[in-house]
Amino acid sequence: MGAFPDDIFTEPANVDPDTLANLGPLRRLAGVWEGRKGIDLNPKAEGPERRKFIERIEFQPIDPQTNGPQLLYGLRYHVHINTEEELATFHDQIGYWLWEPATGLLMQSVTIPRGQCVLAGGHAAADAQTLKVEARRGSTEFGIVSTAFLEHAFRTESYSLEITFNPDGSWRYVSETMLAVRGQADLFNHRDVNTLVKVAEPEPNPLAVLVSAQEKPARA
Ligand code: HEM
Repeated sequence: MGAFPDDIFTEPANVDPDTLANLGPLRRLAGVWEGRKGIDLNPKAEGPERRKFIERIEFQPIDPQTNGPQLLYGLRYHVHINTEEELATFHDQIGYWLWEPATGLLMQSVTIPRGQCVLAGGHAAADAQTLKVEARRGSTEFGIVSTAFLEHAFRTESYSLEITFNPDGSWRYVSETMLAVRGQADLFNHRDVNTLVKVAEPEPNPLAVLVSAQEKPARA
């Protein structure tokens, strides 16, 4: 990771406007995906509940992002999950996946509508076949923040997500959220797995669209 530069304001020159060409290990996630064989293990009063679910995930490229000299390329994502038995949403999640080509830093932000946010991190090379990010409650870098009721009743101690790219273009994830459920001695492993298949290609990021329109020769 190394030391940060003394000049924290100057942004990098020659930022490539085309995010899809610079996503490194995240390139294979870009697009829209569906998976019908998800399995969730969640905490219920009567004990762990195991449910099958149907998932749709959309990952779209965002414009290149600079933090002073730091240059990040990324995807905005939305996960939506249903079950065959119920019409209501089973799980909803939005956030960003970010990759820093200069260092291989990988980040996933997770926002779920329970009053909970996570910033998880790891490292990955441009050609990585697996991606892993982790967060721990209390960390100011890769941490978890929750509303007071969740802290009281379902305290989230850690979060990890591992993605494996399959040779046929699909990918699989395993997510493990360790919960301290009030009144229970052991941590509960709230675990989710699924395999996703691409159903649509991504749209180019807004800056790439603008730049390519400007580059087109004017009509005579
Ligand atoms: C595929 C992903 C996920 C699915 C399908 C899912 C689904 C569920 C379900 C069905 C419950 C039980 C809800 C209830 O009884 O009211 C639950 C509880 C919970 N989930 Fe998830 N979840 C997922 C991922 C996550 C992630 C990534 C986090 C946090 C990082 C998380 C945090 C929690 C917490 C804190 C609870 C306990 C709150 C409660 O039961 O009221 N979940 N989840």
